[in-house]
Amino acid sequence: MFDKIIYTNRRNQLKKTLGSGLALFLGNVDAPFNYPANQYHFRQDSSFLYFFGLDHPGFAAIIDVDNNKEIIFGNDVDMDDIIWMGKQPSVKDMAKEVGVSDSEPMKMLSNYIDKAKKSGQTIHFLPPYRGETILTLSELLHLTPEELKRSASVELIKAVIKQREIKDNLEIAEIEKAMFTAYMMHTTSMKMAQPGMIEQEIAGTIEGISLAMGGPVSFPIILSVDGQTLHNHNHHNILQKGRMMVTDAGSESALHYASDITRTVPVGGKFNTRQAEIYQIVLDANLNVINSVAPGIPYKEMHFLAARTIVDGLKEVGLMKGNTEDAVQAGAHTLFLPHGLGHMMGLDVHDMEGLGEDYVGYDETVKRSDEFGTAYLRLAKPLKPGFVITDEPGIYFIPALIDKFKAEGKFTDFVNYSKLESYKDFGGIRIEDDLLVTETGCKVLGKPIPKTIQEIEQTMAEPREWIKKESFI
Ligand code: GLY
Ligand code: MN
Repeated sequence: MFDKIIYTNRRNQLKKTLGSGLALFLGNVDAPFNYPANQYHFRQDSSFLYFFGLDHPGFAAIIDVDNNKEIIFGNDVDMDDIIWMGKQPSVKDMAKEVGVSDSEPMKMLSNYIDKAKKSGQTIHFLPPYRGETILTLSELLHLTPEELKRSASVELIKAVIKQREIKDNLEIAEIEKAMFTAYMMHTTSMKMAQPGMIEQEIAGTIEGISLAMGGPVSFPIILSVDGQTLHNHNHHNILQKGRMMVTDAGSESALHYASDITRTVPVGGKFNTRQAEIYQIVLDANLNVINSVAPGIPYKEMHFLAARTIVDGLKEVGLMKGNTEDAVQAGAHTLFLPHGLGHMMGLDVHDMEGLGEDYVGYDETVKRSDEFGTAYLRLAKPLKPGFVITDEPGIYFIPALIDKFKAEGKFTDFVNYSKLESYKDFGGIRIEDDLLVTETGCKVLGKPIPKTIQEIEQTMAEPREWIKKESFI
């Protein structure tokens, strides 16, 4: 974990923003997958990690702003636990490590909350996203799960986002570690993308690289020659020449900061003309965004910059036609790019999405669109230095969507449907980088992962790199 002063400063900042009341944070508990003792790998709640650093199940904490008190609630292990899990520090010692001097057994939490309620204190809590947390909160606050949903504190949500959205140097250093793991995962995936391989062989290998380098994957790996399915978690296809393989994968650092990278490569290592043409358009969109990102620019503008680049490129290859601006205004690009340009990234790969995407990605200056495609844009608000964001344009040929739009007579002024027929077996291409917004522009994080056509072809022709001990995180 970070030094305790980091957590103390974060909590002090939160107290200042809230001004009054009591903030209640529930850490995560172990979650079983098929019987009670067989559990998923533990993942702490990211806001709990941010303010209290403790990466263990079964903790809760309060920041009582009115009474200037911070308490961590948790139970010390007993002999049974020690036999099965090994020796653990006491809750008191763990609390001290993150700068909290008061700790109490878990059973004292309900007393504290009851007293606070009786004395008229406002109890702030974040929206729960796990069943166990909903049950605990429900019992503590005497609210039904439905009432809980409506009662999460908007004040606390906004205060937490205001802090977590700006990454400091220590956090960037953690993200860089996760980026290095992503470099190893993606260069390996490229080199393995040879005809005859099964997707699962590659997906399993790169998930293993993440684990071997010290952290789990930051989300289930998306790896497929059916890249037109945006979140494709099936890995059963056998790779064949002529297809493109999308790998969308990232890792978590030891302190749980994420990376999230996508690369798309031709099976066998050489782009054919059709693949190179479409690939270059997506790359131009990705690069135009990198060259244009700056503080103050709404990310929605960057989304539309990528959309215009894609329309321009598709016009050149004869798949679109007409005036680019009009095509984007009409939403014709959404046939090829039906998702948003990107999202925040940090302790969560879609950072803070559990707090409410509109609070994270939108503000009073920009409201979510309800138009097809654009509605999926997770980040639209003006950028600030310290934001870490993804830049992930794509072009997808989704046969069902092409057929639907064609049958509805949609965008006939802008789409060349007859030529598009021959692209229905193409799949999809997405290119994703993680950017740090700086005072003057942005920095692409991580060791550069091959991205141009030439770099990819060269990398795919080289032997596989093996993990060296010194690169462990
Ligand atoms: N990398 C997966 C996503 O951003 O949705
Ligand atoms: Mn992403």
